[in-house]
Amino acid sequence: MDTRENILVTEDEMIKQDAFLQMVAEKNPDANKKYIINTFGCQMNENDSEKLSGMLEAMGYMRTQTIEEADLILYNTCCVRENAELKVYGHLGSLKALKNRKPGLIIAVSGCMMQQKDVVDVITKKYRHVDLVFGTHNLYKFPELLYMTLNSEKPVAVVSDSDGYIAEGMPIKRDHGVKAWTTIMYGCNNFCSYCIVPYVRGRERSRKLSDIINEARVLGHQGYKEITLLGQNVNSYGLDLKDGSNFALLLRSLEDLEGIERIRFMTSHPKDLTDELILAMKECKKVCEHLHLPIQAGSNRILSEMNRRYTREQYFQLVDRIRSQIPEISLTTDIITGYPGETEEDFAQTLDLIEKVRFDYVYTFLYSKRTGTPAAKRQDQIPEDVKKKRFGALLELQDSIGRQINEELAGKSVEILVEGISKNSFSMMTGRTRTNKIVNFKGKTDLTGQLVNVIIDNTGTWSLEGTLVH
Ligand code: SAH
Ligand code: SF4
Ligand code: F3S
Repeated sequence: MDTRENILVTEDEMIKQDAFLQMVAEKNPDANKKYIINTFGCQMNENDSEKLSGMLEAMGYMRTQTIEEADLILYNTCCVRENAELKVYGHLGSLKALKNRKPGLIIAVSGCMMQQKDVVDVITKKYRHVDLVFGTHNLYKFPELLYMTLNSEKPVAVVSDSDGYIAEGMPIKRDHGVKAWTTIMYGCNNFCSYCIVPYVRGRERSRKLSDIINEARVLGHQGYKEITLLGQNVNSYGLDLKDGSNFALLLRSLEDLEGIERIRFMTSHPKDLTDELILAMKECKKVCEHLHLPIQAGSNRILSEMNRRYTREQYFQLVDRIRSQIPEISLTTDIITGYPGETEEDFAQTLDLIEKVRFDYVYTFLYSKRTGTPAAKRQDQIPEDVKKKRFGALLELQDSIGRQINEELAGKSVEILVEGISKNSFSMMTGRTRTNKIVNFKGKTDLTGQLVNVIIDNTGTWSLEGTLVH
């Protein structure tokens, strides 16, 4: 059985990786090699990519935005739905010609997809121009694996099938200057019947409270204003540590850190959201009024088959408890349409739930069959056109609810953390409310990183527009 000691990567191992990092850097004395990382999937994967970027930059690689310029191309992959995997195969296929023209090019693939043996077999047999394959559990070994790749004629494929480790102190190059992600726990124990994540990310393991607080303190000193705590189910944070740590305590411990103005987190599993946590959210002034609380389906029969371990009634009660404590909270959720055996009545229950709860935003997914999960073995799979029809109906209903909720903000003053220039309109700045809504407004670029007040003039389903209050 695992004990904490063999979950933590030892200091000796991290020193060894640092040595490999230096050895790769020495091979590249001009530090003029270029890299590009293409990331798929969730924020935890994005956060892993930031660590991979940090390691690459410590090895003398510079980031480029173009594939043609790169000396190293890395795909950090996701397998939560089939289309995420198909995209990766498409990209890899199209790199063959480039690799022929540029034999020194290193093509690497990492991430969740690589934790599946059959995928690694396909890559190593059919995509022979791929030089390096590694998984999520040995991310911290990237310097060693890259060193091996650079010194070998043959492709390197090293995927650890152990449950995975916690490695502290990896270099990191964050993508954003204002808001930062921190993964507080890895893996998942829930085994929802449709989901591949527990198989590719291993069992839940939490970072030590003190390690997270230290990281957040440094982020505050570096000028980051917002921090998002990440985990597949942050509500069960700390329970495996058996030292009294839990998520409510973590939120309270981060409250006093200098520089950090806002704290967010995701994802919360409804079955584990305690009153203690609701109270901590209410009392911690920096914790934002937004909760992502995936429901997945509105019918009790489907929820039970999905192994979600709550009923729609329990979910309604939970929403009531949260709203009674934090009335201004915005709620978002995830829903899957077309789970095996989902009938029209089941789906009508989902629509009914959406109408009753009135979420600010709903992320909708077509059910995707994932080999190895219990739901994939079922004979009563739903045809694609039915899944899509339900998806469309859900979107239509939610669009009108989301628009109505946003309309209520017209004329109100809201606090925005300015993130930078809007990607859609270069004459506008963009930021988010505490409730996680995007607001664009006219303003100077030096407002980036500041908290400002904006009066909302225009509202839409996706974003809002406002005028800066001077
Ligand atoms: N741990 C989080 C979510 C992780 S995956 C949670 O439990 O809420 C993000 C979302 O992808 C899930 O909430 C679910 O809605 C969706 N998802 C997971 N597996 C899927 C599958 N096989 N097909 C379609 N959507 C899926
Ligand atoms: Fe997947 Fe369920 Fe775990 Fe979320 S809680 S990652 S949906 S198994
Ligand atoms: Fe995808 Fe892995 Fe995240 S499967 S959703 S990248 S944990």
